[in-house]
Amino acid sequence: MVIWRNPQMLLIPVIAVVALSALLVHLEIAQTPRSGGSFSPEVWRDAGPITPIPPPPQADARKLALGERLFGDARLSADERLSCASCHDLTKNGAYPDQRQLEGSRHLDIPTVFNAALSYRLTWEGNTRSLSEQAAASIADASGMHSTIEEAVSKLRADRALSEAFRAAYGSSINSESVLDALATFEGSLLTPGSRFDRWLQGDASALTPDEIQGYRTFNELGCSSCHQGVTVGANLVTRQGIFVPLVLSGPRQVRVPSLRNVEVTGPYFHDGSAPTLENAVQRMAAAQLDRILTDDQVGSVVAFLKTLTGNFRGRPVASSAP
Ligand code: HEC
Ligand code: HEC
Repeated sequence: MVIWRNPQMLLIPVIAVVALSALLVHLEIAQTPRSGGSFSPEVWRDAGPITPIPPPPQADARKLALGERLFGDARLSADERLSCASCHDLTKNGAYPDQRQLEGSRHLDIPTVFNAALSYRLTWEGNTRSLSEQAAASIADASGMHSTIEEAVSKLRADRALSEAFRAAYGSSINSESVLDALATFEGSLLTPGSRFDRWLQGDASALTPDEIQGYRTFNELGCSSCHQGVTVGANLVTRQGIFVPLVLSGPRQVRVPSLRNVEVTGPYFHDGSAPTLENAVQRMAAAQLDRILTDDQVGSVVAFLKTLTGNFRGRPVASSAP
């Protein structure tokens, strides 16, 4: 209410955000490697803002297997109808096409679990900080599994074979820590290396076409990489959505910048799923986050680059889950 009596105070955070974004974009441009003013793919490949996805970390095979089993286990939900895999389909893109088809779930677009292990925080708003914290939150989510980790543990303990497998892997009977650890260990393996873009980063000059390399350049020059960078091409900072013009009106204003890994096959886009195509998402991003209206050619160029970010899981390209 104080704010309403002093409307000019509203401007302070707005100015701060605009100034900070301008600074970020400026810094990014200043840091972008250049050779004598002309664009050199080799220099950008070696010192650009994106790094390749590493191979999955080494992990105990028994814990991985238990995590995979739990990921598909509907006993983790109160009514035993939903497993993690119901909403995060690992045979496709690690997400689900339309969350509204899932009874009871919130109207939030379901993010993919692929490469979530590489994000600095999890969920659209960046509310959770580790995979095990997220797994507990997912089990408790009132609009999803609606159970508790304690309830899940007591159901799993009744399963003799599973109890033995847990004892072999963790040296104790099933408990909250080992259930969450098994899930997190398994999710740590859900990386999608080997995209054409990563192969190019790793030195395979033929992995990208000249148009796709140009798209990467456009992506950087527009300032997209001031927010979408690092190994996950995003997922490493929280920012405001709709800085210059509104983007999504419902839901959170402050969101974690999403990863653009596998973005070709993880539509619809934005936290409310309101962008049906990548072209639409890119156009709206440029206006809302960078105050730019893009030409069709610029949109096409950026989209061509984004489509090179599709990686592989278990030797198969990550695929769209659209019906
Ligand atoms: C009913 C559908 C549903 C089920 C079941 C479900 N999730 Fe999710 N998951 C979501 C939604 C929606 C979000 C986004 C939540 C948010 O942003 O607040 C999410 C977010 C996540 C994230 C964060 C991804 C990121 O990049 O931020 C991870 C990791 C995850 N879920 C893992 C799991 C695990 C593990 C389970 C099983 C224990 C599970 N989920 C069960 C719908 C589901
Ligand atoms: C100031 C930071 C910022 C900049 C700059 C930015 N983005 Fe984003 N991007 C975001 C945020 C935040 C979201 C999530 C918005 C939401 O759903 O609430 C997002 C979402 C996206 C999505 C949808 C991802 C998904 O899974 O739903 C795409 C695609 C995208 N951005 C591409 C771009 C492109 C291309 C550019 C440059 C034209 C760009 N972004 C510039 C912050 C930024």
